[in-house]
Amino acid sequence: MSKTVTFDGAPPPGTINFGIGQPSADLLPVDIVRAASDSFFANAEPLELNYGVTAGDARFLDSLAEFLSAGYGVPTSPGELFVTGGNSQALDLVSTVYAKPGDTVFVEEPSYFLAFQIFRDHGLNIVGIPVDDEGLCVDALRRELASHKPAFLYTIPSYHNPGGQSTSDERRKQIVELATLHDFLIVADEVYQLLYYFDPPPPAYGTVTASERVVSLGSFSKILAPAMRLGWIQTSENLRKKLAANGFINSGGSINHFSSHIVRQAIDSGALASHIEKLKGVYRDRVETMDKALNEHFSGIATWQRPEGGYFFWLEFDESVDTTALRDRARDVEAGFQSGTVFSSKGELRNCLRLSFAHYSNDDIREGIRRLRPLF
Ligand SMILES: Cc1ncc(COP(=O)(O)O)c(C=O)c1O
Repeated sequence: MSKTVTFDGAPPPGTINFGIGQPSADLLPVDIVRAASDSFFANAEPLELNYGVTAGDARFLDSLAEFLSAGYGVPTSPGELFVTGGNSQALDLVSTVYAKPGDTVFVEEPSYFLAFQIFRDHGLNIVGIPVDDEGLCVDALRRELASHKPAFLYTIPSYHNPGGQSTSDERRKQIVELATLHDFLIVADEVYQLLYYFDPPPPAYGTVTASERVVSLGSFSKILAPAMRLGWIQTSENLRKKLAANGFINSGGSINHFSSHIVRQAIDSGALASHIEKLKGVYRDRVETMDKALNEHFSGIATWQRPEGGYFFWLEFDESVDTTALRDRARDVEAGFQSGTVFSSKGELRNCLRLSFAHYSNDDIREGIRRLRPLF
């Protein structure tokens, strides 16, 4: 049997499944990774194939600090950076280092569903806090703080997965104040921060690490390639020390040291920055195409906000609509989406669904939305 390159949840040929929150093949830059690898191997030293220092290769952290200083518009110091294997691995690491089994963590309702499993793997109790168009509802957070003492709040501040919205700057400041007052950490998953297609988002949580309350997670998955399995944590030097003291890190050294050599070349050559500009142009078109197709086929049936960045549209239907049941029927018309319930820590949001525009061309987006319309 021949084996082809695939991924979990890959749709059958011909199906347009907007449930897939991954880049399309044409946006995975083989050329950039090849050139970066060539340039690394042209001068590679044997010790570069040894274990790396725990926080990350010093040259990589310097390059990353420069990249983030430009991307976030605020000077970033290498001393507040810690290399990770991407945000999934970082979520696992922060659950080990900053929480213990039985602790409570706050998540947004809805939130990135795969994070729930990571938190549950660590024996953490999940409490959902509602969000609205301006992001996490601070009043609801305040109310929950009256009866819980969370180890951390997990938030996706910019271009939320699945909601698409960004938490306003004012709310971010209020959340940092509450974290200081009630002594909990903010684990900010900033995986979409640099993927904005119109106005830039509010400043990243990574720019306020001096608060000693913020652990910001960044990843190369959405801006370069998921296969690099490389990301970073940006936090205060004190909180960073706790990461480096972790047993797994102590034993293996810098996570994904090899990948960091390759990505360093892509940062230093400017190829990564140019690629991000390209992605922003392509995704902007796809957002506009999906918004137009939704206006054509779903206006009056569902409500949504056009996202300003990231990967996702979030649609809300009348309470009588059950998107879980419709998801199975979507297969019959060779289309797909993620139903709202998976993003709810309480098993709610049945009448909502998430569509990703990242995996399909403009033509496929128009066709997929047209196919979905008769189901509703
Ligand atoms: C909010 C969020 N966090 C984390 C991830 C996974 O990140 P990584 O590929 O860096 O592990 C994703 C990918 O879809 C995501 O949307």
